[in-house]
Parts: sequence; structure tokens; C-alpha cells
Amino acid sequence: MLKYQKKKLIVAIDGPSGAGKSTLSKALAKKLGYINIDTGAMYRSVALLVQQQDIDLQDSARIKALCEQISIVFERHQEEERVIVNGRDVTEVIRTPQVSLLTARVAALPDVRAAMVAQQRHLGRGGGVVLEGRDVGTVIFPQAEVKFYLSATAEERGRRRYEELLARGDQVDLQQTIAEVEARDLIDQQRTHAPLVQAPDAVVIDSTTMTIDQVLKVMIDLVREREKPSQDHH
Ligand code: DC
Repeated sequence: MLKYQKKKLIVAIDGPSGAGKSTLSKALAKKLGYINIDTGAMYRSVALLVQQQDIDLQDSARIKALCEQISIVFERHQEEERVIVNGRDVTEVIRTPQVSLLTARVAALPDVRAAMVAQQRHLGRGGGVVLEGRDVGTVIFPQAEVKFYLSATAEERGRRRYEELLARGDQVDLQQTIAEVEARDLIDQQRTHAPLVQAPDAVVIDSTTMTIDQVLKVMIDLVREREKPSQDHH
């Protein structure tokens, strides 16, 4: 019997916030035995330190120094993925509304992007990784073997976010949540550095009317197909 070694691929999942990227990249990585890299969490981590050290966003020397020294590690504790920054578990604190807001500004700084992209390339260079973000298939790994662009209507993404917040016990308004999603999309698409764009060779999945399991199946089927060694012997 012919035995072959499956290829360890680089899988990119890009798309706007609320399309289900985090849930799907975690589930996909688990299923494939790949490492999951949440690139948004890396920008959030930089923003957290900027906030804690009270650094002015104009102070590029301090920002650069911070980016050179930061250590961001993704660890799996049982079923949970934790983000460890300079030895401290920041998984929850990087998700507060204040940090989210600051992250959007920090992620727009060219120095920060250059430093994070370098770290992301280093983390993913060996393959066997799923990277989730906005610019994985266009900037970080244009040569990724599998690229997904995950989308859903702003209305549906707003509705999902609304349900999440409700479940957490927050007081929220559906129309306002949808409007916030639309506003964030505009900022993401219009910023000068690494705006959210679709890679021409990405497989687009519109998850508006799909369940997580349905999307996951589409993703797994494609990755498994591309993991097979090339049949081409020329
Ligand atoms: O995916 P997220 O919500 O954790 O992303 C947080 C912020 O970081 C958001 O403002 C978009 C930005 N981001 C980015 O600019 N590039 C990435 N590769 C990932 C996230």
C-alpha cells in the first residue's frame, strides 16, 4: 500500500468582525490538529500594554520598543485557548470595550503592523496552522495553500453580536448593535494600512444562513483535499 505524508498547510481565514472567524478557526484547528493563531488577539495585546503603560500613539519610539519586546504566546488549557502576554494571562482583559476601541487605532499604526506581521510569519512558517484575521491571505501569507473569506450580512452579524451581549446580561438595542457593526466595517475597509480586502484566490463563504457545523464541513473538506500530496509527477 502506498503511504503518504499529509502536507501541513497554512490556512487563512479572513473577514469582517462577527462573521464567525474565531469560532470556526478554533474548531478547524482542533479538527485538523493544527495550531490556531488569532492575529486580532495580538493587536489587542499590544493595545493593552499601550493602555497600561500610558503610551502616546504618536510616540513611535516607545511603540516600536514595546513591539520589539512583547512576548505573545497562545496556550491551550484543556479545551480553552489562553493568550499569555509577557508571562501574564490576558485572555479576558483584551476583550473589554475600551481595549477593543484602542485596538482599532493601534492596529492602524504601520510600525505595529510591521512588527506583528513579522511575528505572525514566524509563528506560521512551518505550516500546520490556521491564522485568523483581516490580512492573512493578502499580506501575511499571500502564498497560503488555503484561503477562506468568511462573510455574513451586517444585519446578521449585528444580530449575532446582540444575542451574545444579551446572553451576557448586557442592556442592548438590536438596531444600534447593527449600526455599530456597519460603522466598524467602514473603518476596517477604509483605513490606509492593510484595509480589509478579499484575496482574489480566497474561497468566499457567506455564513448568513449557515450553521457553524455547515461552514466547518465546507472548510474541512477543502483543507483535506489540499493536504493530499500532489498527484502531478511531471
Ligand atoms: O478580530 P478582532 O476583533 O479580535 O480584531 C481586533 C482589532 O484588530 C480590529 O480592530 C481589527 C484589527 N485587526 C487587524 O487590523 N488585523 C488583523 N490581522 C486582525 C485584527
